Amino acid sequence: MDNKAWAESVLSKVEKKMKAVVERNAHKVPYITDNGVYDNRDGDQISWWTNGFWGGVLWEMAALTGDSWYEDLAYEMENKLDRNLMCAEQLDHDNGFKWLLTSVYHYKKTGNQEARNRSILAAENMAGRYNLAGHFIRAWNDHVRDKEDVRGWAIIDCMMNLPLLYWASDETGDPRFRHIAKSHADRVIDAFIRPDGSACHIVEFDPETGERVKSYGGQGYGHGSSWTRGQGWAIYGFALSYIHTGEKKYLETAKRVADYFIASVPESNLVPCDFRQPAEPALEDTTATSIAACGFIEIAKATGEEKYLDAAVSLLKTLEEKRCNWDPAVDNLVEKGTVAYHNSEHERGIVYGDFYFIEALMKLAGIEYFPW
Ligand code: GLY
Repeated sequence: MDNKAWAESVLSKVEKKMKAVVERNAHKVPYITDNGVYDNRDGDQISWWTNGFWGGVLWEMAALTGDSWYEDLAYEMENKLDRNLMCAEQLDHDNGFKWLLTSVYHYKKTGNQEARNRSILAAENMAGRYNLAGHFIRAWNDHVRDKEDVRGWAIIDCMMNLPLLYWASDETGDPRFRHIAKSHADRVIDAFIRPDGSACHIVEFDPETGERVKSYGGQGYGHGSSWTRGQGWAIYGFALSYIHTGEKKYLETAKRVADYFIASVPESNLVPCDFRQPAEPALEDTTATSIAACGFIEIAKATGEEKYLDAAVSLLKTLEEKRCNWDPAVDNLVEKGTVAYHNSEHERGIVYGDFYFIEALMKLAGIEYFPW
């Protein structure tokens, strides 16, 4: 079976499973499962950073099935996020994850002006986070977090949010948004990417002078470690910056991190939470696998280098064989996603794990869906 036929066969199982999952969770804002049941991040948790992914899953299913039921639910999700959009303290660099997958995609599909308005507001707010002295987009809002001053913190995840700024420049004709996105990406190349091709999770800059201060292990094992989801954000994020700008340095960076990732995958083909974690506990993170696979597929498309496509297919096949739960009564599709190494939410079903797994399969099957 070729890759396309394989992906199509898995997507037909996805379609059946997700119909049941969406019926049960239609009006919730799912994030993470506990014993196979999704929580609900509506209400006072509406600003949670993952709250664009459920809308993303709904749009994926709409693209896969052509069923307008999914679209209607995606609009409902987009509307719910207005409570977040109207709360300045809860807007941050994750505006990309929240509104690219909901209002921007909606606007691109239908020209809906309300969706455009939301998207522009989200992009303008994100652009306003740019630190002119340090050439980076600030990650979070709190002044102090866990006793650390975070005004100068930037995180690798933000690479995935830059397409909101590329979109805003394309849409408005104003190059400022693109300048900011590129400036941030350039700073990430020199401040986050290590000589061996691995990426730091968090880098602190002095918010006044812009000097790089130090890095943090963040959601990975520790200082100097290599959190696998962060490697995925770097691989796919830089591939997206290449797609939006055509600048080779971004493709080269995506390849450097991808080469490091591929060389670090253990023989089992099951990706740990951190490539530098101790042997025990053997924590996995399947979300990292799917994110990286999406990036590998885009690198293969851009370069024609088969090794990236082969790596994506091999990892996705392992997920399908060993880590997918096809029981329609269980809410998550992919098992063993890990929120963070030093956190109690280990090896759970997480909405973005399913989102990127489905996205990767849709890329292989040649189904039109590109929200970035
Ligand atoms: N953006 C946080 C994470 O990847 O978990």
